[in-house]
Amino acid sequence: MSFPKGFLWGGATAANQYEGGFDEGGKGLTAVDVTTNGSNTEPRKVTWRKADGTTGYSPMVWGADFAVPKDATPAVLPDYYYPSHGGTDFYHHYQEDIELLAKIGFTTFRFSIAWSRIFPTGEEKAPNEAGLAFYDKVIDLCVQHHIEPCITLQHYDTPLALVQKYGGWQDRRLIDLFEKYATVVFKRYAGKVHYYTTFNEINAMDEAPYLGGGLTDPTPQNRAQGAHNQFVASAKAVRAAHQIGSGIQVGMMLAYQPVYAETCNPKDQVAAMLNMERGLFYADVQAGGEYPKARLIQYQRAGIKLADTPEDYALLKQYPADFLSFSCYTSSVVTADPTRNENAQGNLGGGTVKNPYLETNAWGWATDPAVLRLALNNLWHRYHKPLFIVENGLGWADEIAADGKVHDDYRINYLRYAVQSMKDAITEDGVDLIGYALWSAIDLVSNGTGEMKKRYGLVYVDRDDWGNGSLKRIPKDSYDWYAKVIKSNGEDL
Ligand code: BG6
Repeated sequence: MSFPKGFLWGGATAANQYEGGFDEGGKGLTAVDVTTNGSNTEPRKVTWRKADGTTGYSPMVWGADFAVPKDATPAVLPDYYYPSHGGTDFYHHYQEDIELLAKIGFTTFRFSIAWSRIFPTGEEKAPNEAGLAFYDKVIDLCVQHHIEPCITLQHYDTPLALVQKYGGWQDRRLIDLFEKYATVVFKRYAGKVHYYTTFNEINAMDEAPYLGGGLTDPTPQNRAQGAHNQFVASAKAVRAAHQIGSGIQVGMMLAYQPVYAETCNPKDQVAAMLNMERGLFYADVQAGGEYPKARLIQYQRAGIKLADTPEDYALLKQYPADFLSFSCYTSSVVTADPTRNENAQGNLGGGTVKNPYLETNAWGWATDPAVLRLALNNLWHRYHKPLFIVENGLGWADEIAADGKVHDDYRINYLRYAVQSMKDAITEDGVDLIGYALWSAIDLVSNGTGEMKKRYGLVYVDRDDWGNGSLKRIPKDSYDWYAKVIKSNGEDL
């Protein structure tokens, strides 16, 4: 036996990529609702023209390295396609989807609540009952099927009104607005939901500040302030949850990629160390309770001054995250040679080079058989917090075969490595891992490129890059494989 009894097995999704129903039930717009699609293969049909007449894309949006990056427009404009508007329509398919997940044997389902469904502009006095009513149905159905919901409170979808009025998370007013939202949710679902995370991939504030924090002016100063405000908001959410009780745990969520130095040249080693520390800074604060000195030195040198209060630091210390959840898809390789940035991809790919030992998918993300064992060990030894893998999976342009099925043996191979790697970390290294929610439970829109064709799900959804298709759900071969894994608690791979 290797995985502990009660280990949480499941999958993950995010409202902005999956839910759809973007203007139903009184929901307000989010930052993602004005984000267009992109592609790594096809030219954009229309391109947002900036006020000065130039075309191009906003470097604030994730995916600047892709052939046709996504773009953020100032409002919902005619002639543009916004993939978040329909997602893969969980809003109208939640019953069918949760039943499909229950049949695999899921014991956890990670999804996000759209803040703007509960507070459409973020600033209403009272929550939107119609928005809560939707999540009531989703959560009740999960509980009925003995599936522990694991809820992300903000997965890239800052309410658009807060983006436009305050420039996003750089403004301290968002701290208390978020605390109010989190408190409403915690109270409403007390006794039903035990696991929450505050900000998906909080280190996106460095890599993609528009998604991470709705920043419209992503200067280094504003990114630092945006991160600080999210840290404080997170600590306040932890405090609120603990006051409510009912066994609610509030975790942090980090995008994590183990970093390899390209060679044993000390220069490469230092470059790799610095690259790794850049991402771990976020966990140092949220899991460790204080800013690492190195980051403060960097801020001082860059002339960055935080708008902060002594109470902020007391909150960070007193209310660190209850657990550390993270996404981990691949590893990255770092060189000190500035002329050799091959932009090897991954969800934190910038500034890295290709790994000659690993195969990649069509988007350049490498399959690394040891990545989860490495990630789990690195994070466990540094923070000693319970760990929860809430994203890991393989994006692929799946196709329906002549027999009407999807034979995704490539995904099964990837996931087999993942389960084996977790098993090694638990049985050989003794890490404390709560659960594994692969990405993604069901096909959904890609965050990076805005495409449908970059699919991760155990269940295929008939929808193309432009929103055409019947939305029919078709379980893939990986669906049956994962059911077997869960049934055997990770033994039958
Ligand atoms: C993570 C995000 O970065 O990676 C998800 O939390 C995202 O939202 C996932 O979908 C996979 O990335 P992509 O770009 O392939 O969709």
